[in-house]
Amino acid sequence: MDLKLSGHNVIITGGTKGIGRAIAETLASEGCNVGICARSEDDVTSAVAALSEKGVKVTGKALDVADGDAFAAWIQEAGEALGGIDAFVSNVAGSNAPGDEGWISQFNYNILSAVHGVEACKPFFKESTNPSVVMISTTAALEHFMNAGPYNAMKAGLLNYSGALSQELGAKGIRVNAISPGPIFIEGGSWDKIKQGMAPFYESTLATIPLGRMGTAEEVAAQAALLISPLGGFTTGTNVVIDGGMTKRIQY
Ligand SMILES: NC(=O)c1ccc[n+]([C@@H]2O[C@H](COP(=O)([O-])OP(=O)(O)OC[C@H]3O[C@@H](n4cnc5c(N)ncnc54)[C@H](OP(=O)(O)O)[C@@H]3O)[C@@H](O)[C@H]2O)c1
Repeated sequence: MDLKLSGHNVIITGGTKGIGRAIAETLASEGCNVGICARSEDDVTSAVAALSEKGVKVTGKALDVADGDAFAAWIQEAGEALGGIDAFVSNVAGSNAPGDEGWISQFNYNILSAVHGVEACKPFFKESTNPSVVMISTTAALEHFMNAGPYNAMKAGLLNYSGALSQELGAKGIRVNAISPGPIFIEGGSWDKIKQGMAPFYESTLATIPLGRMGTAEEVAAQAALLISPLGGFTTGTNVVIDGGMTKRIQY
């Protein structure tokens, strides 16, 4: 299937590793020009070089998305360098620090950075024929998982913002969707670390997944590509759960 993504310009936060990197790779393979950011300058440089090999325009910057001014300035810069912005993928999450620090971090990184990203992209969306936003949430926002903590709560807030925004921006032709992945196994990523350091928890989580395995970053990226594609042009306000059946609620 031709996703008709060639020539789209997409901004992805946290595009050097894990799910964000897989989204950038998948979109670049489909002919999208991509803009990525992350905190590590070395990782941004090497990711930009690797993505550029796909023959698309790539721009990247080392920054912390919690620095609202620097983040907005970069989106402006990236939009100008790419020649517009058709889609924004908000992919960064916060830290699991204990106490208030963790709550503030998860708010800043999951919600406020998504809000700032959307606001900075809006002027570019006016010029796009297929503008959209994809928010990366988690199944931990949908059902009780691990603890009553800020990560789950702020990801749930992100889903509420995403759905409400789809209503608000629909009249402007801007689609807003979310993806809630279950456990995604990425070499060197969080579930790899859990497998090494907390094997019983890893195994007990795996046992709750009917498909009998964790997901891949590429499986999440493929869904992001479909949501951004003009072929997903009537899809807005949805939350796509990609979890191998881990969440037990019945979806209607
Ligand atoms: N992995 C899973 O099982 C899973 C499941 C459900 C949902 N998710 C969600 O998927 C998203 C990506 O997770 P992941 O596992 O792929 O993470 P990851 O492998 O740790 O990658 C995170 C990416 O974001 C960048 N980043 C982190 N903090 C940043 C900041 N403050 N400013 C700019 N860039 C930042 C990282 O680079 P730097 O460190 O250099 O900044 C890296 O490129 C998150 O929202 C997470 O909650 C993941």
